[in-house]
Amino acid sequence: MKKIWISPSLLAADFSCLDREIARMEKAEADCLHLDIMDGVFVPNISFGIPVISSIRKTTVLPFDLHLMISDPLSYAEPFAKAGADWITFHLESNSDPRKTIDEIHRLGKKAGLSIRPGTPAEELFPYLDSLDMVLVMSVEPGFGGQSFLDSCLPKITAIRDRAPQLRISVDGGINLETGRLCRDAGADMLVAGSFLFRLENPADEISALRES
Ligand code: DX5
Ligand code: ZN
Repeated sequence: MKKIWISPSLLAADFSCLDREIARMEKAEADCLHLDIMDGVFVPNISFGIPVISSIRKTTVLPFDLHLMISDPLSYAEPFAKAGADWITFHLESNSDPRKTIDEIHRLGKKAGLSIRPGTPAEELFPYLDSLDMVLVMSVEPGFGGQSFLDSCLPKITAIRDRAPQLRISVDGGINLETGRLCRDAGADMLVAGSFLFRLENPADEISALRES
């Protein structure tokens, strides 16, 4: 069985002291750091962008797991790669051609992920599974942290797992110990958690429980 990866979402951090916030997650043995990029067009919110990623890249060795909630990921894959991304995940519902975008991310030497909103059927990912390093199943509508988990994502996780036994399947939105377990039971092997982890001063026990309970 593959190790379950835990990716804390920086969106829930205190942005006035990002280096300290990231250090807390590194010390608590997070596997990577989930960075939510929002352009105010693909989703009705704006988060942070390339200069912030370049700056925080110098503060940690954690791999950066980028979640691009932007309309045109193909045009921005290169600057995000140069800023320090390790994994670049974009949305199937964006305006960019999925195959060209996956190829571009690989050309840049990065791992490629494809994400679907809650309303998009899992089957729409199937044509791309062979060329992906990860899929990201949204368990809330993208755009904001702190929302409630939608359990309609669970059969989608299982459908993707049945089709792609080796693929990394990440789930994002409303993850806590209870919903994390449901996702793992459904076949997920990566959990993104924002508010659940960042509200704790030292989330080491919760990170290990999310991985193992
Ligand atoms: C939502 C983001 C999530 C969000 C998760 O659009 O993609 O990564 O930060 O936050 P929580 O864990 O609080 O639901
Ligand atoms: Zn996210």
